[in-house]
Amino acid sequence: MDKLWAGRFSKETDSKVNAFNSSIAFDCRMFREDIEGSIAHAEMLGKTGIIPLDDSKKIIAGLEKILKDIENGDLLFEPEAEDIHTFIESELTKRIGEAGKKLHTARSRNDQVATDLRLYLRRKIKEIQDLLISLTDTLVKTANNHLETIMPGYTHLQRAQPITFGHHLIAYVKMFSRDIGRLKDAKTRMDEDCPLGSGALAGTTYPIDRKMTAEKLGFDKPCDNSLDGVSDRDFCIEIASALSIIMVHLSRFSEEIILWCSWEFKFIELDDAYSTGSSIMPQKKNPDVAELIRGKAGRVFGDLQTLLVMMKGLPLAYNKDMQEEKEAVFDAVDTVKLCLETFTPMLATIKVNKENMRNAAASGFLNATDCADYLVKKGIAFRDAYKITGELVSVCIKKSADLENLPLEDYKKASHLFDDDIYEAIKLENCVLNRKSEGAAGSYMKG
Ligand code: ARG
Repeated sequence: MDKLWAGRFSKETDSKVNAFNSSIAFDCRMFREDIEGSIAHAEMLGKTGIIPLDDSKKIIAGLEKILKDIENGDLLFEPEAEDIHTFIESELTKRIGEAGKKLHTARSRNDQVATDLRLYLRRKIKEIQDLLISLTDTLVKTANNHLETIMPGYTHLQRAQPITFGHHLIAYVKMFSRDIGRLKDAKTRMDEDCPLGSGALAGTTYPIDRKMTAEKLGFDKPCDNSLDGVSDRDFCIEIASALSIIMVHLSRFSEEIILWCSWEFKFIELDDAYSTGSSIMPQKKNPDVAELIRGKAGRVFGDLQTLLVMMKGLPLAYNKDMQEEKEAVFDAVDTVKLCLETFTPMLATIKVNKENMRNAAASGFLNATDCADYLVKKGIAFRDAYKITGELVSVCIKKSADLENLPLEDYKKASHLFDDDIYEAIKLENCVLNRKSEGAAGSYMKG
């Protein structure tokens, strides 16, 4: 294939440079968006009379046919083409001749790639949002079955206060809902400004209609500054940031799943379809899926770092460094999609061991705060009640007892305000149920 710039050069490009320079291996996935952008541009060129209407029609028909052929598998990408933009344009000219050569009037690959990438990411954001919605639906469904399932709540991974499994799951619903919102924000900003028509950097001398192309491609308006249009990739960084935060949430959740299905916890069991075995230890059932998601978080953070570092030193406007943005942001998108596609069904099929959760919550003095609160309700200042309860806990430890079965006389020795009703006040179910403040474990309970 002839180089676009063959006229200026007297020597062939070195074959290693060709391969090094080429991006078609990864930007070919934007073929739909490249064609969509080219159709909008060709229509505008025809309507404004920059090229004859007849040529514009030929170009559009040719592009539509190319799209079909790629989708059917009848047209394969040529690895020698430098990128998807060059490939589509030269394929068009191969097919329709002279008219094809007019498509690139009043545009540059620089505004083309900035447009294509936005269109592509718009589609991917929607796919990820849908996956997040299905994850939050699954979480809500599971949480609804466990609004009364007592489990230990932790701080510092030490048993702290009793909560319910439902309460715990809804915490993640909140996180993933904010993730959906973050993607929406990023998309709204990305959809504001259409870079098409920025040309290589300085705009164009042709009387183009940027409003028309912006509207056709679903942007709010043409970008206000042509240099900005072709040279920023903040939308990629913003999306990779939102994706990184999704991975933080998925990774924390995975870590908990890994802990919960260990013999030490035994709170849940993963379905066989979402677990793996060991090559040597016949008894093993491993949470590989959750571990891989935890591991892949690092990969997405790496993609974000790649984008930040790649952009930070670039003078305006376009620099070839920016070709690297695609592999990073594509990898982040692919990884998050893959993780969500696997995580949600894994979660939907877990078996919950309510008894073990309840038993774990029953030891470790998770009701100590409630014991102190009991005294506060009887008129003692919280700090004094806290101290008395601390002393009671140490009595329990000496006697190998729990607060639930410590005799009333021990309570009375600590404070005369204790009465028989202390045992009701520190019953685990009541500890949860009585926490009725907004967002508290008890606010989700039916009782
Ligand atoms: N393949 C290039 C990229 O992804 C397209 C833009 C090329 N522009 C240029 N002036 N070399 O960034």
